Amino acid sequence: MNTIYLDNGATSFPKPPAVAQAMFQYLTEVGASINRGVYGSAQAAGMTTLMLREGLCRLFNHDDPTHCILTGGNTLGLNMVLRGWLRPGDHCLVSSMEHNAVMRPLHDLAEQGVTFDRIPCDRTGRLNPADIPAMIKPNTCLLVMAHGSNVSGTVQDAVAVGAICREYSIPFVLDAAQTAGHYPVDFKAMNLSALSMPGHKGLMGPSGIGALLLSRDFAQNLTPIATGGTGSASDSEAQPNYMPDKFESGTPNVPGIYGLQAAVDFILSTGVDAMQRREQELTKRFLDGLRDVKGIRLAGSWELENRVGVISIDFETIDNAEAAYQLEQDYGILTRCGLHCAPAAHKTLGTFPQGTVRFSPGHYTTEEEIDAAVKAIAELAQG
Ligand SMILES: Cc1ncc(COP(=O)(O)O)c(C=O)c1O
Repeated sequence: MNTIYLDNGATSFPKPPAVAQAMFQYLTEVGASINRGVYGSAQAAGMTTLMLREGLCRLFNHDDPTHCILTGGNTLGLNMVLRGWLRPGDHCLVSSMEHNAVMRPLHDLAEQGVTFDRIPCDRTGRLNPADIPAMIKPNTCLLVMAHGSNVSGTVQDAVAVGAICREYSIPFVLDAAQTAGHYPVDFKAMNLSALSMPGHKGLMGPSGIGALLLSRDFAQNLTPIATGGTGSASDSEAQPNYMPDKFESGTPNVPGIYGLQAAVDFILSTGVDAMQRREQELTKRFLDGLRDVKGIRLAGSWELENRVGVISIDFETIDNAEAAYQLEQDYGILTRCGLHCAPAAHKTLGTFPQGTVRFSPGHYTTEEEIDAAVKAIAELAQG
């Protein structure tokens, strides 16, 4: 039995071959850290790091590679923003579809006197930007939103939300975990102050590395949550105030930098439009196949517009965890079941507490694999 990997929402697999090749090359031939040596291999590692920052800027329409911070992952990037920005007495707005990477830091901060409100989304997971102005308080100083839902695939209108944030002078933070690499994300058009993403999902790089792109204003006023050695200004025990060093203390994940650089190159040369088209074709085939299947409920919208290829199903005739288990045992199909670290999203979509079985095709998924998944779902749903 062949394995069918449909868990790209968790992490993309397989990766473009160049990713592992670049990491192997770094580990076997380069080996040096960045910013900390003047010898050739250290300079080469520094150049690759700069190429990665430049590539990410090109991908997300940002004009300053020094403001592209390399993080230890998306969760860390979001923590850097939330914990570095919010102070006791501040108020933050989030959507009702957020991942715990946002909600758990916010709950911690609530214990220190930060308050937050959830902008309600409808049963398809969609937020209406027109609801936002009435929720803004005099102390609202941040709006954080998941661009694409990791449960329903719903993509929010970030341009409209960004315009409202501009009007009310509220910094706008976008969690692009489910969109970066396979759906257009434009830092300027969305009026972003911060854009956080993992390297290992749609960007198709390794795990343990992510990126946080910051606007100049926001970076200037954001406090780093970790300080330490940067390989620069070593005469001083104070953290440098310049970018990107202000937010990049400690020896970075250089194998990850090499892998992500190769991955970003792959995305840039393939084109986000092409990645999105392919994902839409697969999603359409999946949704078309599911339309007549009895005994399942789709969490979210059947529409192809404004969505990524994350398809969540609530089985009505069989427990969702049991369905996921049988999908692997009997059909070799790998999915993710449960609440996907996003209880708020499931409450919004009406799938709490039972959760869903999530199918997330990726760039290398084939039509045959989609058809096999639809057939397996139909058989399981018969009970
Ligand atoms: C919407 C969303 N936000 C945040 C995260 C956290 O990303 P990571 O686990 O890569 O840090 C995820 C991961 O699934 C996600 O889907």
